[in-house]
Amino acid sequence: MTHEYDAVIVGAGGAGLYAALEASKTARTAVISKLYPMRSHTGAAQGGIGAALGNVEPDNPEWHAFDTVKGGDYLVDQDAAIILAEDAVRAVYDLENRGLPFSRTPEGKIDQRRFGGHTHDFGEGPVRRSCYAADRTGHMILQTLYQQCVKNEVSFFDEFQAVELIMDGTRVAGIVTFELKTGEIHIFRAKAVMFATGGFGRMFKITSNAIANTGDGPALCLRAGIPLEDMEFFQFHPTGIKGMGILITEGVRGEGGILKNKTGERFMERYAPTLLDLAPRDMVSRAIMTEIQEGRGMRGDRKIDDWVMLDASHLGRDVVEAKIPDIADFCRTYLAIDPADSPMPVQPTAHYAMGGIPTDIHGRVSTGKVTYDGLYAAGECACVSVHGANRLGTNSLVDLIVFGRRAGQHIAEYVKGASMPSMPADADAGGRSKIAAFKKNKGTHSGSLFEEMQTVMMEKVGVYRNEGDMSTAVESVSALREQFQGIGVDDAAENYNQEVLQILELENLLDLSLVTAAAALNRKESRGAHARDDYPDRDDANWLKHSLAGLADGKVTIDFKPVNTEKWTPKPRTY
Ligand code: FUM
Repeated sequence: MTHEYDAVIVGAGGAGLYAALEASKTARTAVISKLYPMRSHTGAAQGGIGAALGNVEPDNPEWHAFDTVKGGDYLVDQDAAIILAEDAVRAVYDLENRGLPFSRTPEGKIDQRRFGGHTHDFGEGPVRRSCYAADRTGHMILQTLYQQCVKNEVSFFDEFQAVELIMDGTRVAGIVTFELKTGEIHIFRAKAVMFATGGFGRMFKITSNAIANTGDGPALCLRAGIPLEDMEFFQFHPTGIKGMGILITEGVRGEGGILKNKTGERFMERYAPTLLDLAPRDMVSRAIMTEIQEGRGMRGDRKIDDWVMLDASHLGRDVVEAKIPDIADFCRTYLAIDPADSPMPVQPTAHYAMGGIPTDIHGRVSTGKVTYDGLYAAGECACVSVHGANRLGTNSLVDLIVFGRRAGQHIAEYVKGASMPSMPADADAGGRSKIAAFKKNKGTHSGSLFEEMQTVMMEKVGVYRNEGDMSTAVESVSALREQFQGIGVDDAAENYNQEVLQILELENLLDLSLVTAAAALNRKESRGAHARDDYPDRDDANWLKHSLAGLADGKVTIDFKPVNTEKWTPKPRTY
């Protein structure tokens, strides 16, 4: 079946919905999502959106931009960071006007709280910048934008998995998808295609990411010959529930929660004397791992489950119930503890991909040398790059509302002057034969390959890295990709075939794992979330540059592009 739209957006999280809302002002717009939109992973973003509204204390978008650049260890493109910080204010008020129920100050303004790495006066001390709706900010964004899209008559194709990106040279032609309900292949021909497919934390064993976060957009681009930017930088959030990885929002520390080791010491005093528990995530995650490695953490059932404590009990029950109600529920459900009474056991959890599909500030896919006509990306699957080597908390939501909105606005203009691209008659042949092969094969199954990939990535390409471990990861993932060639399913059903879906997702994660491990092995320095034991220092002379990693015939190729440092000269980071 073939469908035609002016614009097709793949992914129905915050970036996809905001883009759809803007694009639909001029374009016939469809949103394709592997999930029902309200289940998108934006809903997992708990603590808030950073925007310098200055509602509870003085603030300034320039300070926000600076914090973003410094937090990203100066690998951030500074022109993009300035847009991010300035547009954040406009986008938050736009969401408020569209009905987002923010938490309020006693005077009725949008309330704001502290988050890691967000400061006043260029690093002088913490600032209240995160605009929030209790600890359900992401959910509220989804609800608000979805209802607006429905009002604007955006067409939704729920439970469709993207299988292949169709290009005509450097111009997009459309996308091939697999409908879960029927097993049918659908082709979407469109003047503009945008990826907003979110992250790919499922490549790691302990992750805050949802089951669906399998990097579908970046993997499809990679297979269409588009290189991915800065894939070596993957963020570990300091506070996941031990052993499970479920996110405990940084908002807990923003409200005054404290990290403690097994002696009860507030250990962040030794690592970040000014910002303490609200230092950037890369620093806090390393501090936790160091406490554990030096014997000051608590022992888990497996080595990868070792943990420290996050104590919010001194905040009082009223604050816990009003400001972090979902966290309190998670702790009661998964840990049988009440955070108003007892500390929470936490450990770093794979959380966010700083790298992804390279874009310009309008969301157009671009390597700097080549810009792909009609192809867009925004949100976590994209790299614009506003997060550099380490994203600040809240800036994920800022990224998707700012650049999702900007991409949608650009699409709305672009489609006015663009013709419908030509599409080969057999555009779906690749997707069809791939799925037919899975159904014919009876060899390897996806479960064991998934398990091995996640374990190797967690153990060898985690918070601390070194040459030997990363070389092993490259070899192991390459071997898993070989085994994938014979992969098959037991269930040949057409309707809701979860085995086929899992294999398609595994293929994407294997490709992205290989690129992540190879790009990390290649970068011989430590910067932001990329911390190497064997190259412990940042090396601006040789490595202040973005990587661009391609994949051909099972081998990763690496190129580079410059970083925009037009406003702030890189300096050592202290907090
Ligand atoms: O900690 C959190 O609430 C996560 C937010 C984020 O990743 O920005």
